[in-house]
Formats: sequence, C-alpha cells, structure tokens
Amino acid sequence: MSEHQFNILVTEPIPEKVIQYLGEFGNVTVGEVGTYQNEQALIDDIGSYHALLCMLSNPISKNVLQAGKKLQIVANFAVGYNNIDVAAAQELSIKVANTPDVLTEACGDFAMGLLMATTRHFYQAEKYLREGNFKGWEPMGFLGPELRGRSLGIVGMGRIGQAFAHRARAFGMNIFYHNRRQVSADIEEALQATYFDDLNTMAAQADVLSLNCPLTPETHHLVDSNLLNMMPNHAVLINISRGPVVDEAALAEALQNGTIYAAGLDVFEEEPKVHPKLLEAPNCTILPHIASATFETRNAIGMLAAKAIVQVLQGEKEQNIPNLVSL
Ligand code: DGY
Repeated sequence: MSEHQFNILVTEPIPEKVIQYLGEFGNVTVGEVGTYQNEQALIDDIGSYHALLCMLSNPISKNVLQAGKKLQIVANFAVGYNNIDVAAAQELSIKVANTPDVLTEACGDFAMGLLMATTRHFYQAEKYLREGNFKGWEPMGFLGPELRGRSLGIVGMGRIGQAFAHRARAFGMNIFYHNRRQVSADIEEALQATYFDDLNTMAAQADVLSLNCPLTPETHHLVDSNLLNMMPNHAVLINISRGPVVDEAALAEALQNGTIYAAGLDVFEEEPKVHPKLLEAPNCTILPHIASATFETRNAIGMLAAKAIVQVLQGEKEQNIPNLVSL
C-alpha cells in the first residue's frame, strides 16, 4: 500500500539527498538512465503521478502533459526548459519550474575552462602524450592564441553570461555583449562591457563568440553559415547553451574550411548524437553537456526542483514559489 497521498516520478537517478527529501512528501519512483528520453515511455507511465521531476533530455510535450491526468507540476532539473511545452502546461493548469541561480557559478567556471581547453588544445595535447608521442619539450608544439587583450562577445547577458564575463575580465579579456535588452549601467561598468544591438556587427569584431542564450524559436540556428562567414578567421565559438542555437553542419564546414579557428561545445543539436562531421572537424572540443556538473551544483539543482514540487503539492501560492516559469 502506498505510504503517501502523492506519487512523484524522478526520471533519472539524481543526488540521494534530493530523493530522501521528496520521499518525506510522496511515493518516489526513480527511472533508469535514458528510459524517459522517449516521449512514448513518458506517455505510458505518467498517468499515475502527481509530480514529475524531469531532465532536460526528457521531451515533455503536449501529449505527455495530456497523459498526466493527475499531474500538478513538472520541475526541470535544469535552468533551460526548452524541453517542456510550457504553453500546453499552462492550458492544462500544470505548473512548471526550473532551477535558476544555483548553477550560475559552475557554468561560468566551465565556460572559462572550455575556452582555455579549446584555445590551448588540452584534449589534443593529452591524447598526444597518452599515445606515447611526447619525446620532450617542443618549442612549436600545440601553440594557441592568448586570451589577454582579446574580445569576448557574449550572446545572452543573463546570469551565466555575466558569470563568464567576470572570469574573462580576470583573464584580461574585453567584454562585448548582445542581448534582447541592454543590461543596467552598473553591470556594464563592473564588466567594462560594450553593448551591441546588432549581433552581426558584434560577431564580426569578437575574437571569441559565446552562446549563453536560451533556445527559443528566435535563437534556433542563430549561428548559421551567414553568421559564421562574418566572424574573423581566428575566431573561437563557445556554446554551453543549447545545441540547436548552432547549425552544426554549417559549423563543421566552417571549421574544416578555416572560416573560423576553433569551437568549444558542451551541447549538441540532437543529444546524445553529435554531428559526424563535428567529430572529424579540426580544433573542436566536444564535451557531453557537463557545464553544471559539480557535486554542489547538482545537489542544489535537485533541491530547488524538489522544493517547488513539495510547495505545489502542499498547495502553496504561486507567488511564494520563486522558480515557477510561465510564458
Ligand atoms: C541547464 O541547466 O540548462 C544546463 O544546460 C545544465 O548544464
């Protein structure tokens, strides 16, 4: 017999502390890795659950939400929530939560690391060493550009964009940014940041272009062959936002042709697949969507999502649940 009134589905294993916390309020089922990356699996199972704690890899479509006859809340284990049909959830009076703020610093650190790894060829150099090719210090081995004095053009100057910009300032970089709205004068001053209303103009001038914007219909394939052609040949592209912001086929071609110098990617258009041409492209660092992967941050993400679930199931007023999202 069920111990609690509510059933909660957590689609993948997450920190135990979060499961224990949810277990005080509901009967928790934890899915196996990968099971719910499939829409039909969600449709088949969701009917008996009152709350869903899902991953960014789970397609929470209108069909899934409609099948969730008892569903009161969908809490995403991520800040980006492009995997959830928020409009459909609103129509069905199902609340949606995400996890802002708690992953900002981990992602800022990671973006800086990815930029370093990409420009200084960490992966290729380590591979070279492991394969037994290191015969002694080489004055011309694995050269890459310095970051000091270079410009970082940030697309999407939200929390994570700003966290990256702060770190890049410490490395002596100059900050450009493009955003839907100009940020406050205080933020601009702290970062010594220059606003570009026009993305193309910024892309043509930035040594590094970093994508830190959400995936929306407007940002889908924002980086396409046109934009890549505007970037300088020595430019580096960094993407820790969402894969479909970049046209991967066009990027692979740009790397092959030397249209741009390098790319550091943590996200892909059709995760977990990676475009085969990107796998072969020169100067391309590719990582399996790990920007927020610190012990501290993944615990905090889980607790924030779980708290929203508990608040909703306990009938808390919407205005008291800070991480609910709406259109
Ligand atoms: C998010 O939370 O949206 C990130 O992609 C996790 O790394």
